[in-house]
Amino acid sequence: MNRVSVDSEDNLLIGGCKAIDLVEKYQTPLITYDVGMIRKTIRSLKQVFDEASLPYAISYASKAFATIAMYQVIKEERIHIDVVSGGELYTAMEANFPMEDVSFHGNNKSLEELKMALDLNVGEIVVDNFNELATLTQLAKERQQKVSIILRLTPGVSAHTHAYIQTGQSDSKFGFDIDSGQALDALKIALASEFLIVDGVHIHIGSQIFEEAGFELAIKKLLKTLANWRTLLNFTAKIINLGGGFGIKYTDKDDPKDPAELLKSLLDIVKVTLNQYDLPNASIWIEPGRSIVGPAGYTLYTVGTQKRVAGLKPYVTVDGGMGDNIRPALYQAEYTAVKANNVNAAVAEEVRLAGKYCESGDILIENQPMPLLRQGDVVAVLATGAYGYSMASNYNRNPRPAVVFVENQRAKLVVKRETYADLIKLDLPYKN
Ligand SMILES: Cc1ncc(COP(=O)(O)O)c(C=O)c1O
Repeated sequence: MNRVSVDSEDNLLIGGCKAIDLVEKYQTPLITYDVGMIRKTIRSLKQVFDEASLPYAISYASKAFATIAMYQVIKEERIHIDVVSGGELYTAMEANFPMEDVSFHGNNKSLEELKMALDLNVGEIVVDNFNELATLTQLAKERQQKVSIILRLTPGVSAHTHAYIQTGQSDSKFGFDIDSGQALDALKIALASEFLIVDGVHIHIGSQIFEEAGFELAIKKLLKTLANWRTLLNFTAKIINLGGGFGIKYTDKDDPKDPAELLKSLLDIVKVTLNQYDLPNASIWIEPGRSIVGPAGYTLYTVGTQKRVAGLKPYVTVDGGMGDNIRPALYQAEYTAVKANNVNAAVAEEVRLAGKYCESGDILIENQPMPLLRQGDVVAVLATGAYGYSMASNYNRNPRPAVVFVENQRAKLVVKRETYADLIKLDLPYKN
């Protein structure tokens, strides 16, 4: 089982608070974060960089979980963020996040989004494709504004992960392909612009990756490419962004390296390869999302109905599901759940933890060993902090849950529970 904290009565603790007390105060479904755990992960990554004596930036990939409170925590930890939409950028702005520490990603940024990013003077625009390059060149010229950019490259490396979260292979919707020469063409275009400043390059090979091998191949390919570009165009990257993708433990089947350990290995590879090509030290950036917030998130649900048919695995239904966590339905993501007031209870049976949404595919966990659960019991699904709330929907017109941050035994509501009134807020009558 994932490591969790319990008190002497076997109650699940989150940030030092009993999960069942949080439920009493905030009801369910409830998304909770152990903020101390988020900080600890960030600090462990910083330490690896400090020990490697490399210039660096850690950029939290905020698509994993983007709210004002989260951006405030990231700001307190003095790291960067990357955003992928005007909405994330707006949220960061409302959180007073320093815009020079923002990178703007996305494979189809609208003109309005690009203008917004230029108005706000974000630190880096990560340019993804030729259309964007043309638009940005034009925009920067019209505005006579210098714009710092990073080119997103596709290194032609497939990560060992679900196809939906692989991004580094040549046949990907993201980035300029290195192998076909697209990346070099993009660099030439960008360098020809009087207003674009090409600060560096970016790769991201996928998400929930456990093995070093894919990263190693990608890093070597990227640095070899940079060595070629120095020869061909006398170009030197000031920033080398290795992306995110560090895997986390969702179930006992997962055995990821600690992100700090993985980072250490990657930095060793970077150093050796920079040396091999006699490349100057660049600032090494990483963009972890899942590994920063994933393990720190716990979703608390109340058990409702059960369906039991002789010879079949029981369905135990909770008061949330695919609306607050689409990942199991979207790409068969697996999770672990525990009974919140008896984490180490003896297992009585294996159940399917089902959601309340009107889809047969709304099963949060297909196979969860559990004690006998009763209506009203609280279960906690572990490691839900990444791509859970940020992908939440109002499917079936269910309100989205509240989010609570817990740190040093204190809980703070950071996203209110939606109300039915919120659900119809944007609706307009067709007929009066
Ligand atoms: C460009 C980019 N950077 C970083 C990330 C974060 O990945 P992860 O959450 O797996 O660390 C993603 C996620 O898909 C991404 O697309």
